[in-house]
Amino acid sequence: KKVVLAYSGGLDTSIILKWLQTTYGCEVVTFTADLGQGEELGPARDKALLLGIKPENIFMDDLRETFVKDYVFPMFRANAMYEGLYLLGTSIARPLIAKRQIEIAEQVGADAVSHGATGKGNDQVRFELTYYALKPDVTVIAPWREWDLASREQLLKFAEQHQIPIAKDKRGEAPFSVDANLLHASSEGKVLEDPSQEVPDYVYSRTDGPENAPDKATYITIDFKEGDAVGIDGQALSPATILTRLNELGKVNGIGRLDLVENRFVGMKSRGMYETPGGTILYVAHRAIESITLDRGAAHLKDEIMPKYAELIYNGFWFAPEREMLQALIDKSQEFVTGTVRLKLYKGNVIVVGRESVYSLYDQDLVTFEEGAVAYDHRDAAGFIKLNALRLRTLGQRKKKLGL
Ligand code: ARG
Ligand code: SIN
Repeated sequence: KKVVLAYSGGLDTSIILKWLQTTYGCEVVTFTADLGQGEELGPARDKALLLGIKPENIFMDDLRETFVKDYVFPMFRANAMYEGLYLLGTSIARPLIAKRQIEIAEQVGADAVSHGATGKGNDQVRFELTYYALKPDVTVIAPWREWDLASREQLLKFAEQHQIPIAKDKRGEAPFSVDANLLHASSEGKVLEDPSQEVPDYVYSRTDGPENAPDKATYITIDFKEGDAVGIDGQALSPATILTRLNELGKVNGIGRLDLVENRFVGMKSRGMYETPGGTILYVAHRAIESITLDRGAAHLKDEIMPKYAELIYNGFWFAPEREMLQALIDKSQEFVTGTVRLKLYKGNVIVVGRESVYSLYDQDLVTFEEGAVAYDHRDAAGFIKLNALRLRTLGQRKKKLGL
């Protein structure tokens, strides 16, 4: 029996690793991905070796470019936000991690996969829906739903019994739970659980406070090609490089903080704090380039399906036909979403100050209040308004007749 574990190298997944070996007696294969969480992979490898994993059973991947190019960017084409505010930084990473786990399972002949998500959250659903979609006969082991290590003391005792190194700062209660990648850092639990209380300053890791941001604004331009960012300040850059650079710009300008109470798929409300500096800039810039390149009908249809698309990603249905169908519609809409947006970054704000495109539908001659274009005759507006008013006049007459 072999199992592929999504392994971060942290205390919790190290305990899971040992628990899989001792409880199931199975051979553990670890998979650690660099998604831009800001941690070196080396220590995770050392830890896996220390815990008795054979070198050939340790898998490590730098997935930063794939993550941004094939997951983050397609999602940003849709301007996806869950419940109007959340840019889905954790939700979008899970299907990629799970997909790689399944590929490794096929490669090493493992029939089981395992993850460190709890039994109360969204992440278990996202991991497992992907596992089942890509390997229908897979065995899923979710230790948090199975073991009896209910308290922090029990976990630490288990770690000590099995010679798992415990970092000094992990001896006490963990102050809160963090999930991070190139798109965002999310913090939940413990000190954040009371939604009436402001998030303490020490929870923020990706952004400086807006009140500490420079008094002078930063101007940048972002180039788009067919809906995806392709360059900053005129310089062509790879997807992961663009997001990395936007994260730096967002960080110093205090951009992308969000304190949110959201509805989890499993039914309860949870309070979290998100930091999405680069993603917040990208979101605003993408809407700005769409504003001149998309037709109204196309733009409004996209906005109508967006909440549905965002909910599918939040709920873990990335590898579902309905997500792929909506993606095809969104991708088609981006054909002419090419051009440049100029932005001003200032104390937590992303302000659009210019947009241009060779495909622009914006017609200054048509819209100007000055001497008008031939394509538009003011007198046509009178009939246009009268026909649109017909129903409203009929209703108004009835109201009057009834004395309402
Ligand atoms: N609530 C967010 C989501 O469902 C983040 C979950 C993971 N975050 C964490 N700090 N453990 O996408
Ligand atoms: C977890 O439960 O493991 C993290 C939170 C979530 O998945 O919603």
